[in-house]
Amino acid sequence: MTHPIPIRRVHHVELIVGNARLVSFFCRKALGLDLVAYRGPETGCPGSVSYALKRGDLHLVITSPLTHEDPRVIFLALHGDSVKDVAFEVEDLDGVCEILEKRNATFVERPRAVSDSHGTVRIASIKAFGDTVHTFIARGGYDGPFLPGFEPRKRPGYDSGLTGLDHFTVNVEGRQLERWVEYYADILGFHPQDTWAGHDVQTDRTALHSEIVTSADNRIRISINEPAVGKRRSQVQEFLDYHLTAGVQHLALSTKDIVRTVAAMKDAGLEFLPVPDGYYDRVSDLAQACGIDRQTLEHLSILVDRDDKGYLLQAWTRPVTDRPTLFLEIIERRGAESFGGSSFKTLFEALEVEQARRGNL
Ligand code: FE2
Repeated sequence: MTHPIPIRRVHHVELIVGNARLVSFFCRKALGLDLVAYRGPETGCPGSVSYALKRGDLHLVITSPLTHEDPRVIFLALHGDSVKDVAFEVEDLDGVCEILEKRNATFVERPRAVSDSHGTVRIASIKAFGDTVHTFIARGGYDGPFLPGFEPRKRPGYDSGLTGLDHFTVNVEGRQLERWVEYYADILGFHPQDTWAGHDVQTDRTALHSEIVTSADNRIRISINEPAVGKRRSQVQEFLDYHLTAGVQHLALSTKDIVRTVAAMKDAGLEFLPVPDGYYDRVSDLAQACGIDRQTLEHLSILVDRDDKGYLLQAWTRPVTDRPTLFLEIIERRGAESFGGSSFKTLFEALEVEQARRGNL
């Protein structure tokens, strides 16, 4: 087995969007994230703006290019608003890059130092699925508000109860699943989660294959989907038709109290995916075991599942982008370490209904 790259945590997730000011406002008002730092023309970065937002251990960076000369406008034209970077914090960047080099990772950016009056950070990036990259960041003793070039901004969100990033899910092209599982195993030393119940998901109409890879300490979890042959167009294929390449399909944000978090987000105007009819009849025992009444679950579109370690509660938003590409998941783990085999299938049935509404099924 490949020795794992010593990753401390997901440092941040960066999205490239058409209007970062509006999306950062959405992140504050709908998701409750605090705006903590900003980089743009006013801070000496003339070509783009980036807003750094935070809640618990979750850090999002929302970036927009400001001129047509910025290559990120091509990214936007091809994919629409989308995740560009899932950045990892490491301690020894040069040591990590030496290993990545030996493992034939494709560098997008070689190790370099970035400084401001708060100190120096070392960063490097490698290519990942589609036009996405993984940036590695060694903060050293850097004590600025986010990263060099950012100035502090204090615009609070609200207490939505979010605590961090539980996992993210990637959609890849047909027959590319194994290649990307191997990428995470061979380059980063992640291991496939073999015990998962959702490998092949099939509804009456569509199908997909899915695998989960996790870091050695199980703290970074990535699920990867590819479309499979079914009677109708797989929802992974719908994503690919709009996104053009592989990309992040959803970010799963963790909470310790999903009822409070989803209720607050619904109040703030976020739309959650309606759950198919009959679902709550099937899970009434599970709901009871979780101590949440059925009406509350139904009202908030929360799904409930279990594995041998405990319970799992999940809710998914409708796409947060105009293209049916990116959505969010809210997840509360009560011991469970899996991704919910039966909830996974219910999610796909719910997504099919949405797909049909768009005329894409
Ligand atoms: Fe998920």
